Amino acid sequence: MNVTVVGTGYVGLVSGACLADMGNHVYCLDVDAAKVKALNAGQLPIYEPGLEPIVKRNCAAGRLRFSTDIAAGVAHGTLQLIAVGTPPGEDGSADLQHVLDAAGAIGRHMDEYRVVVNKSTVPVGTADKVREEIQKELEKRGKQIPFSVVSNPEFLKEGAAVEDFMRPERVIIGSDDARATALLRELYAPFQRNHERVMLMGVRSAELTKYAANAMLATRISFMNELANLAEALGADIEEVRRGIGSDPRIGYQFLYPGAGFGGSCFPKDVKALQRTADEAGRPLRVLAAVEQVNEAQKHVLGNKIRERLGSLSGKTLALWGLAFKANTDDMREAPSRTLIGDLLAAGATVRAYDPAARAEARKIFENRKGVEIVDSAMAALEGADALAIVTEWQEFRSPDFAGIKARLKTPAIFDGRNLYDPAVLRGLGLEYYPIGRKV
Ligand SMILES: NC(=O)c1ccc[n+]([C@@H]2O[C@H](COP(=O)([O-])OP(=O)(O)OC[C@H]3O[C@@H](n4cnc5c(N)ncnc54)[C@H](O)[C@@H]3O)[C@@H](O)[C@H]2O)c1
Repeated sequence: MNVTVVGTGYVGLVSGACLADMGNHVYCLDVDAAKVKALNAGQLPIYEPGLEPIVKRNCAAGRLRFSTDIAAGVAHGTLQLIAVGTPPGEDGSADLQHVLDAAGAIGRHMDEYRVVVNKSTVPVGTADKVREEIQKELEKRGKQIPFSVVSNPEFLKEGAAVEDFMRPERVIIGSDDARATALLRELYAPFQRNHERVMLMGVRSAELTKYAANAMLATRISFMNELANLAEALGADIEEVRRGIGSDPRIGYQFLYPGAGFGGSCFPKDVKALQRTADEAGRPLRVLAAVEQVNEAQKHVLGNKIRERLGSLSGKTLALWGLAFKANTDDMREAPSRTLIGDLLAAGATVRAYDPAARAEARKIFENRKGVEIVDSAMAALEGADALAIVTEWQEFRSPDFAGIKARLKTPAIFDGRNLYDPAVLRGLGLEYYPIGRKV
């Protein structure tokens, strides 16, 4: 099929590449000319495991193209997948400007039937706004061209995005339009040869499902974070509690890990946006207000533990392992590492930070911040440092050279925002260990 993807970020690039890999001809549009130029030169703008070879082989085969030419993009695909960003506006609601810009461009350029597919995470009712925007542009041109608008929220996870797109747990299609539904079923057929994964539902239900999923996951994390802080106060060990409750199939083990707070481009903004939607509907979601509050506080827990142990941080240096908001990505949007670094700098410390994938991103973010140095290895971060803080659960941090860590730190203390180690083992090695909610 001929497919156009509008917006070539994490979702657009992965979707476009994977759809091309199934034999579709995919035209990826973006307004960011530098990004398009880099992609056409074979450089990926993001780190995502397994993505590069798929992009390269499909470009070489002529099935995947990148461009800023909107008219050509709209002419290419019967299916127009919108995958642009929906950042939070000032009041926390999703800013639909990019989505409506994309819709307007489709309306300005389409000359035959088009299915406009919302993959961006958008509030309930957005499909209606997209339809109005396209209709408005068609009316300006005096044209009557049929089109459909459907919702197809994306559930891929950064760090496992290719795997998630290729083997989705579910493909949600919100549509009340038989012609569009048939085309989307055809598009997704190759991704579900094993069993049917398409769930067809109303457009509004599909839009709400995406927010409900992220809000539920964020709720589990904040619940565990709050419980971890309580466990610490009570002399219990949250790791034992986690195993104890996770064994109940009604609860399950996933997303029960306490830590330094959730970040990333999705959970924080989606929790906010869903609250705004609920407020506007006169049905405030009180649980989510607490989820957000707990998360904001949790991002400061590591910094507080460091100040409690080291006293004044003025003139001290902290080594920091992990900058990305989670492992296997270079995405630092809303990452807890940023809050921790802010806390440490405000307290007068300097930071030597390392991340396996997010160093380039971090150098851009902290370019003008005095007191932050991004280094190229985990051990280099420890040189001259008073203590070590860990914020991301990268595999290479899981079994480090503890003797080497101890030898380099002025105070042999590890502040672990991901609970990576066994407290007894670290005690045996003569290292002080400060995890989240654990008995040490
Ligand atoms: N990142 C994720 O893990 C993830 C997962 C599921 C859903 N989502 C949702 O998908 C959407 C996209 O997220 P992302 O992380 O890929 O965003 P992103 O910021 O990485 O990419 C968005 C891209 O859209 C481009 N763009 C903006 N306006 C445009 C326009 N009018 N025409 C063409 N291109 C335009 C930007 O230049 C950018 O390259 C968001 O709504 C997000 O909530 C993201």
